Parts: sequence; structure tokens; C-alpha cells
Amino acid sequence: MEHVFPTYARFPFDLVEGKDIYLTDNNGKTYLDFTSGIGVCSFGYSNEIIQKNVQAQLQKVWHISNLYESQIQDDVANLLCNDDQLAFFCNSGTEANEAAFKLARKYTGKSTVLAFNNGFHGRTYGSMSLTGNPDIRKGFDPLVPDVKFADYNDNKALELIDNNLAAVILEVIQGEGGVFVADKKWLTDIQQACHDNGVLLIIDEVQTGIGRTGSKFAFEQFGLKPDIITSAKALGNGMPIGAMIGNKKLATAFGPGSHGTTFGGNKMSMASAKGVLTQLTPEFLASVQKKSEHLWAKLNSEIKPLDKVTDVTGLGFMIGIHLDESLPVTDAITKLHEKGLLTLSAKHNTLRLLPPLVMSEEKLDEGLETIKSIL
Ligand SMILES: Cc1ncc(COP(=O)(O)O)c(C=O)c1O
Repeated sequence: MEHVFPTYARFPFDLVEGKDIYLTDNNGKTYLDFTSGIGVCSFGYSNEIIQKNVQAQLQKVWHISNLYESQIQDDVANLLCNDDQLAFFCNSGTEANEAAFKLARKYTGKSTVLAFNNGFHGRTYGSMSLTGNPDIRKGFDPLVPDVKFADYNDNKALELIDNNLAAVILEVIQGEGGVFVADKKWLTDIQQACHDNGVLLIIDEVQTGIGRTGSKFAFEQFGLKPDIITSAKALGNGMPIGAMIGNKKLATAFGPGSHGTTFGGNKMSMASAKGVLTQLTPEFLASVQKKSEHLWAKLNSEIKPLDKVTDVTGLGFMIGIHLDESLPVTDAITKLHEKGLLTLSAKHNTLRLLPPLVMSEEKLDEGLETIKSIL
């Protein structure tokens, strides 16, 4: 890749074909997929409904600007939002968080946002400025001002929430940070402090959302009611998409001309998202929950006790296997490639698993057996 900026550390093969939960590389080797892209292709690589929707849209029209009404945007927004919410469509997770950041400042008339150490919200300036990882921010100063950080799951954060803040932004599970799950009581206290002080609560569901943890959004399992939700990744099952979902009251700050993007809400991505959301039924989510129980029973009984494993964290189909320092996670991933399994890493030497939600218990077991064999 001579003429591509070396921004990614890439493994030396090209995944050229995908079918269901399998990917095949340029050498003809087939892998069982425990990555879903990075939490994107939750319905696998050849879901018929999504394929049909996208192909049908391709035959009609690819691109229309946002200067006209769009039935398909409306359809997706109706599937995504509840009665009190509105959606703004963009193209990625970082853009969804940019929209949330801008909206929070404009609506409240305040500038300061509280974010969390070890959190991740994206790579553009606003989202990077909200990202609590010095390695990601290094060399890019000056960042967007007025962002404060607190430790995740730490009650000291509550002392920082006062009526000078515009918003608090957090992930209920820090994905890139190492698959750390927030404490339910802590989240409830954060939400209460936000309500008491007129501060907006933004929940970044870019990685945790769209069924990944067994509910449409992960925050539902923590009993939260955020003012703003950001989504992307699995919402398009591979077509580029982002969405910011906000309470209707916020619309006063996001009128015509206030925010926009050329490709946001484009009909190709909307066709794909419609295919995703129509399949994200209560029955489908119940099947993910049932398979998760099976998966976690095996993770706890067979993976957690291994010598090389210090902990296993996560929820549903979002799993972090924390490895002992003697086994660098990249070495583990490479060994798993040899055995025909694709996995991911996260911060703190974590082997991260984000299998497609359509994977059967049998195939989940097969992947875990492979992981066990190399650990
Ligand atoms: C929680 C979270 N927020 C935001 C992002 C950024 O999304 P994107 O890469 O689509 O900009 C990611 C990507 O990994 C993420 O995990």
C-alpha cells in the first residue's frame, strides 16, 4: 500500500470476500469472524434483506441532496427514534459526536463538556477533544477548549457536574478503552446530577448500540434516559452512516442552516439502515440475549480461569479478554489468524471480540475453543 498514508497497522492479508459469518482472504484462506468489521457487520456479510434493500435503491437513485424531502430518511428516523426524539443523519461515529457536541453547546449556551478518561469518541477535532486517551490526542494541540475529564466509574465525577456544564458525554461500556462496563449506580447518579443541574446527558452508543449488548441501545439495560444518543457502525451494517438522536426540545437549536453534511442521510446508507432496523425486532434481540447467556457461561467457566487471562469483561456480544502482559494481544491475534479466526484488540492488552449477532451458539463455541487453544 505504497500510496496510502500509514495511519493503520495492518495485518498482511486482504479480506476480499464475505459470506454470512465468514471472510476469505486474497490467498483463499477462510476465517470465522469475531470482529464484525469493528462492530459494524452485526448481520454478517451477506444478509439478504440488507442486500436486497441496497440493490433496489441502487437501481432507483444513488444520491440526492438534503434540499429535498426524503421518505427513506423519515422511515429510518421512525425506526430509530421514540415519540419524543428526532434524528440527524451523518456518515460516521465521530460526526455523530460532533453533532452532539455542537448541539449541546448551542442549546445550553454553555461551552464546557465533561468526558471520561479512557473514553473514545472519534478522531475529528471535537470528538478527539472529548476522547480521554493522550496517545490519540498527542501532536494535535490545540484541541477544542472547555473539555474536562474525570475517571470512569469514580464518584469524584459527580462533584464536577454543576450548572456551568453544557453536557456530560460517556459510553456505558468503554469499547476502545478495553471493554470496561460502567457501574449502574454510578450511571444513575451521573444522570441525576445532570438533571439537577440542567446539564445534557449524551450517551455514545456508536459501538454498544444496535443490538450489540442484547438491547437496541446498551443504556436501556442501565435504566437511563439520555438527552442525546449517538449511533453509527452497526446501524448501516457496513454502509457509512452516523446518527445523532436527540430529544425534540433540542430542535430549537438545530434549525435550517445550523448544521449539515452532503452525504448525511444518503439513500444508499438509509436503505441499508432500514434493512438493519427492520430486523432488530424484540424476537431478534431476545435471541441475542439467549445466545449471550450461553456465551458468557462459557467465557466465565473456560476462558476466565486460564493463566494468561486476568479478567473477562463486557456485556452481550461485546467481550474483552484481558491478557497477561506476557502475551501481547497482537501475538494472540496473529496466532488466531493462523487458526482461521479473526479477532480485535482494545487498549490495556485486551483481546476484543465483537462477533456478528447472527452467529449461532455452535459457532460461538467453536471460536471460543480456538481462543482457548492458543491461550
Ligand atoms: C464509542 C465510539 N465512539 C465513536 C467512534 C468513532 O466512530 P467512527 O470511526 O465511525 O468515526 C467509535 C469508533 O470506534 C467508538 O467506538
